[in-house]
Amino acid sequence: MFKLVINPSKEKGHINPEIQGHFSEHLGRCIYEGVFVGEDSDIPNTKGMRNDVVEALKEMKIPVLRWPGGCFADEYHWKDGIGPKENRKKMINTNWGGVTEDNSFGTHEFMELAEQLGCKTYVNGNIGSGTVQEMSEWVEYMTFDGVSPMADLRRANGREKPWTVDYFAVGNETWGCGGNMVPEYYASLYKHYQTFVKQFNPDKKIKKLAVGPTDKDYNWTETMLRECFRQQGTFPQNFGYMDGLTLHYYTLPYDWDKKGSATKFNDKEWYMTLAKTFAMEEFIEKHSAIMDRYDPDCRIGLMVDEWGTWYDVEEGTNPGFLYQQNTIRDALIAGINLNIFNKHCNRVKMANIAQLVNVLQAVILTEGPKMIKTPTYYVFKMYSAHQDNALLESSIDTEPIGIEKKYMVPNLTESVSKDERGNIHITLTNLSATDSYEIETNLLGNEIESVSGEIVAGAITAHNTFDDPDVVKEETFDAFKTDGDKVTFTIPASSVMHIKVTLCQKSAQDVFSRT
Ligand code: AHR
Repeated sequence: MFKLVINPSKEKGHINPEIQGHFSEHLGRCIYEGVFVGEDSDIPNTKGMRNDVVEALKEMKIPVLRWPGGCFADEYHWKDGIGPKENRKKMINTNWGGVTEDNSFGTHEFMELAEQLGCKTYVNGNIGSGTVQEMSEWVEYMTFDGVSPMADLRRANGREKPWTVDYFAVGNETWGCGGNMVPEYYASLYKHYQTFVKQFNPDKKIKKLAVGPTDKDYNWTETMLRECFRQQGTFPQNFGYMDGLTLHYYTLPYDWDKKGSATKFNDKEWYMTLAKTFAMEEFIEKHSAIMDRYDPDCRIGLMVDEWGTWYDVEEGTNPGFLYQQNTIRDALIAGINLNIFNKHCNRVKMANIAQLVNVLQAVILTEGPKMIKTPTYYVFKMYSAHQDNALLESSIDTEPIGIEKKYMVPNLTESVSKDERGNIHITLTNLSATDSYEIETNLLGNEIESVSGEIVAGAITAHNTFDDPDVVKEETFDAFKTDGDKVTFTIPASSVMHIKVTLCQKSAQDVFSRT
């Protein structure tokens, strides 16, 4: 029996919905085919956006979408993607397969997509090959309401009112595809460029993001904080140089030369991959420790704006398109990482899984008119219950499991939150490929009124295909035994769960009066 102890009266932080954010790049079939098919397509669409994809993402409660890259962002010139489509410049997508980019999806289309999804917008600027003027004019084009050359141009292109840009990043991976810079050089450039990301709307301030480290590049974080952190205001109304520093970390079963298959793997590779994903926690803690020295009040966020699994591409697909399948292993990786982000929600204020559709650890895959939801999709849908909640103090007994000493993992992970009505939401992952575990949840004297749950479970390589789209899906789970302030249940092997606990009126009132 493994004990999960929850203290409903101990709030530890606020879970920003953006922790469950997504990323869409002009890469392979993410934007084109995946999201955008054009108004003339036979695939049902609204202003060119696939209705099936939009509906699924809304149901999953997508909170924020990053665009247009990735590496693509630093070769993207936004003016090529506005105005009549027939006049838009065609370019080579040098990073991703050398294919022709016809710019038919540009700023207006991205904003239309975000409006249809009802999500926040995260626009990634170009510092690698773009000028300060280009970046500053883009911000003016998108967000200025008055009379100005760029606002007038926007109106001439059919959009009267400005849009809201919630987040704006000054470059991407500037230590790599974004310009191969050293941190001192980028820190200066960042301060320079961000000066001209003007705040035209005092009520809807743009949160400015600086490119942060990859993996364990702690020197990058130290340099960025030393050079660019200026303590003023509080998140999200921060008047300093930056509101967030990004972090990228991908989970690969092996390494960059031979990553490993998305669907053909054994128990040993299962544990190897899960063990590697736990590096995320170490990176967050160590980068946060550096940030804490400059910013002890967590005014700026660590934005994990690229994370997820990266496998060898599916056989017969363009290697530059990064198309991969998605199994129960990906569901576990999503669940583990989202639990880690929740536990660090005071510092991690946004995270964007890579990428939305048809690329890397996608929540949706498409093939012509067909669409499937991946196991990762269902995990995001279940975890959406945490959005905007208070993180609660919780801990669980665990034991190390695995096949090789080097790749041992805890058998269970969890995170717990409380929503505005006082309901408690528990998300749990069982990392064992073979074993189920009995769990006793103790709510420390708070009487339970009702319990309900959902689960995503299956064999470790189980996945959905276009011929068999419902092999893995969210199922109702109700095998709970409740006794006073305790609930016991058995979590099946290789599964991710969400449990909602409603406390008796009196307990709930006590909890509220104590918080
Ligand atoms: O997500 C794919 C790529 O990975 C992104 O374009 C880049 O930022 C990262 O290296």
